[in-house]
Amino acid sequence: MKPVAELTEAEARDELARLAEAIARADQAYHGRDAPEITDAAYDALRQRNAAIERQFPALVRSDSPSLRVGAAPAGGFAKVRHGAPMLSLGNVFNAGDFAEFAARARRFLGLGDDIALRFVGEPKIDGLSINLTYEEGVFVRGATRGDGTEGEDVTANLRTLATLPQRLRGEVPSRIEIRGEVFMTKADFLALNAAQEAAGERLFANPRNAAAGSLRQLDPRITAARPLALFAYAIGQASARPAATHWEYLARLADWGFSVNPLSRLLADEREAAAFEQEIAAARASLPYDIDGVVYKIDDFAWQERLGYVGREPRWAVAWKFPPEQATTTLLDIVIQVGRTGALTPVAQLQPVNVGGVLVARATLHNEDEIARKDVRIGDTVIVQRAGDVIPQIIGAVPERRPAAALPFVFPDRCPACGSAALRPPGEAVRRCTGGLICPAQAEERLIHFVSRPAFDIDGLGEKSVREFMQDGLLRTPPDIFRLPAHEQEIAAREGWGATSARNLVRAIEARRRIPLARFIHALGIRRIGAANARLLARHYGSYAAWRAEMAKAVQIGAEARSDLANIVGIGPTIAEELAAFFAEPRNLATLDTLAAMLQIEDAAPEAPEQARLAGKTVVFTGTLATMSRPEAKALAERLGAKVTDSVSRRTDLVVAGAEAGSKARRAAELGITLLSEAEWRDLAGV
Ligand code: IVH
Repeated sequence: MKPVAELTEAEARDELARLAEAIARADQAYHGRDAPEITDAAYDALRQRNAAIERQFPALVRSDSPSLRVGAAPAGGFAKVRHGAPMLSLGNVFNAGDFAEFAARARRFLGLGDDIALRFVGEPKIDGLSINLTYEEGVFVRGATRGDGTEGEDVTANLRTLATLPQRLRGEVPSRIEIRGEVFMTKADFLALNAAQEAAGERLFANPRNAAAGSLRQLDPRITAARPLALFAYAIGQASARPAATHWEYLARLADWGFSVNPLSRLLADEREAAAFEQEIAAARASLPYDIDGVVYKIDDFAWQERLGYVGREPRWAVAWKFPPEQATTTLLDIVIQVGRTGALTPVAQLQPVNVGGVLVARATLHNEDEIARKDVRIGDTVIVQRAGDVIPQIIGAVPERRPAAALPFVFPDRCPACGSAALRPPGEAVRRCTGGLICPAQAEERLIHFVSRPAFDIDGLGEKSVREFMQDGLLRTPPDIFRLPAHEQEIAAREGWGATSARNLVRAIEARRRIPLARFIHALGIRRIGAANARLLARHYGSYAAWRAEMAKAVQIGAEARSDLANIVGIGPTIAEELAAFFAEPRNLATLDTLAAMLQIEDAAPEAPEQARLAGKTVVFTGTLATMSRPEAKALAERLGAKVTDSVSRRTDLVVAGAEAGSKARRAAELGITLLSEAEWRDLAGV
């Protein structure tokens, strides 16, 4: 893989697109279907790569970037709906010159002389998510997200819960009409929601837009109903009749029908008024109750809109004048290290609270230790803080002239602040991680959820939600506590939503898992980079828990024979060996492991040797057509079992597998007295 520093912009853009897709797929598998398809390590690697590229190319951050997404689409998902007319995007301008050019282009296209006024409607560009609402005979029948512009998700039930969405339109309405608008959350509601999420131990939303999107895309409309979502209507899609001659008139119709229309929208007589409107909205930006990232201009006359039409996915009759991200300077009071649920140490800047675009910012992420060094920010510095609408506040850099003489470069800790275990940063990685997997309180919840999950201990009736609740009430803290739960059966039965039957079933499910195959046990420990596949490799190689435990304790020492033995396992290698060594180097991990092992019967793994080497040293020839596997597959299988596969039969051949219509080779084998196998016999031998 190419180092991020060497990527061209085009390569970075391509790779970000690929990463967004791969991460979305993994999220969907993990959260949506609860069935991970890739290891945690592979997933982390994708995310880290994505973050690294985005840091290098901030302008390329995609609107669907995984770094901006919280959680994933719900299981099952929503039905897809096709929009009557496609939902388009807008071209951008960034200054008065760009805007004048946009207007001049439209004028030229329409052949308007300077004496004819070009009227616009200006509207604040709210940073929410656009939706398409279909009304038939004035009745709300369907609501959909934008999706890819052609097809969105059917979120009708959720939209019905919005107080500002009229279920039935007042007055005269075309018999069928698509109305478009923006669903959003105010800054105050967003902050309150995040505070509530934090108190409940739930994930935080990165920004109001994310919060609005996450709230709308809930499978349970009751959750959406409880979220403070607002709506402004601002556009028209497919319609059976045109309800107005101009956009301004159309906005009035929308209001008559019962929609909220942004009260700051304004009819602008010409280019000069349009440009002045931008200044006015930019000045009001920080005091608005919602995030905006620009002003949208639409040519007022619908007939002109129609003539102007589209280029690609952008109308020639509308444009977004984008604002620069909001910035402020303040003092960096401290850098605090947070331990994430996967053990990642993240530096967080503690700031003298400062108003950035109407939101009080007291903290900002510094990503990782390289980032601190690269930006050279030091405690005591005056720093520039930015809110780009989309992202968590960022530190852009320090103001060097205002650095206090005593400010020293920040020294990143090599111990986990949550549990005191060593924090390790593997070569080539940006993130330092805590190695106290089984004992670190910051990671406990995530670890326990993984521990009981389907590919690990697979404890029925102990899902993510119960784990969180039990932890909150002190019933669970570390993995051994799970096997102490049966002693609390009465207590669990008395819990809200439980009862005797559920409690008994849970106890049974736990007891049933006291016997566990070694591979599952290893996987359950949640050691970094040890997913199901690597756990199987380890189990097969070491055979028993006792052997594995003993060898790992020795492998802690760099240079020990046990360490090189571990690193030499095909599929493991030195990096994974180091992760294992780090885990076993923490004595409290070992103690927890021993406690756990004493409560369980860990089953030995089937030894690898006979399995692997069933045909070791043998020479095999395939002839004729095999009905159940291709020749390359048969060859690969034989080689995996240790055999050498050749084309011609000689005295040195040990086995000839004869499929249908085997000819001279089978005859020659018979002449030489070489064992001849039918396809079925071959399959038996290979253990298929
Ligand atoms: S009009 C062809 N009006 O901006 C016209 N869009 O970049 C399409 N947006 O997806 C949209 N405020 O989510 C329009 N007053 C406004 C808007 C607005 C915000 C968003 C919308 C759209 C994006 C286009």
